[in-house]
Amino acid sequence: MNGDSTRDPGAEDELVPAPRRLSEAALQRIERETRKFPPEQRQSAVIPALTIAQDEFGWLSTETIEEVADLLGMPPVAAYEVATFYHMFHRAPVGRHKITLCTNLPCALSGAGRAAARLKERLGIDFGETTADGCFTLVEGECLGACGDAPVLLHNNKRMCSFLDDDKKIDALIESLRAEGAASDGEGGV
Ligand code: FES
Repeated sequence: MNGDSTRDPGAEDELVPAPRRLSEAALQRIERETRKFPPEQRQSAVIPALTIAQDEFGWLSTETIEEVADLLGMPPVAAYEVATFYHMFHRAPVGRHKITLCTNLPCALSGAGRAAARLKERLGIDFGETTADGCFTLVEGECLGACGDAPVLLHNNKRMCSFLDDDKKIDALIESLRAEGAASDGEGGV
């Protein structure tokens, strides 16, 4: 892999942008989540609230976690513990498209190794790395609970892609995600 073309997604460094405050829309969404619980249990909405915050910024800075904790009336350290416990939360910026490929046994027996090799080759990065253009982050994942569809990957913690036993399927997926990124850039998104 070309180390010059990638950056480590786990390191908070000078590339980390300045923190921003949550938008009004995000605040309203979080408020809606808190209403699913009794008023004295607002902090029970911490996982959906952190998810909403991450959807907005792509990752969770310390400042964002503290803002969420303040909204929920809970100690910042308690929100921090949740944000660092679950793998779906990112403590440093990741690519616009985070690809988590399952490499556990059922997927491995169905071609996950080949899928991993193709992804690495096409993206020019290894597991744990992000492309220099910030478009893709590749992650090696554990069982995603879809062994019957192996090999599988998860896109941005939400969309499952199944039966990736063919290089052409991998290539088509990458191209469609690149096209999504180009379209959203054209709209001034992300
Ligand atoms: Fe890959 Fe279960 S082993 S989804």
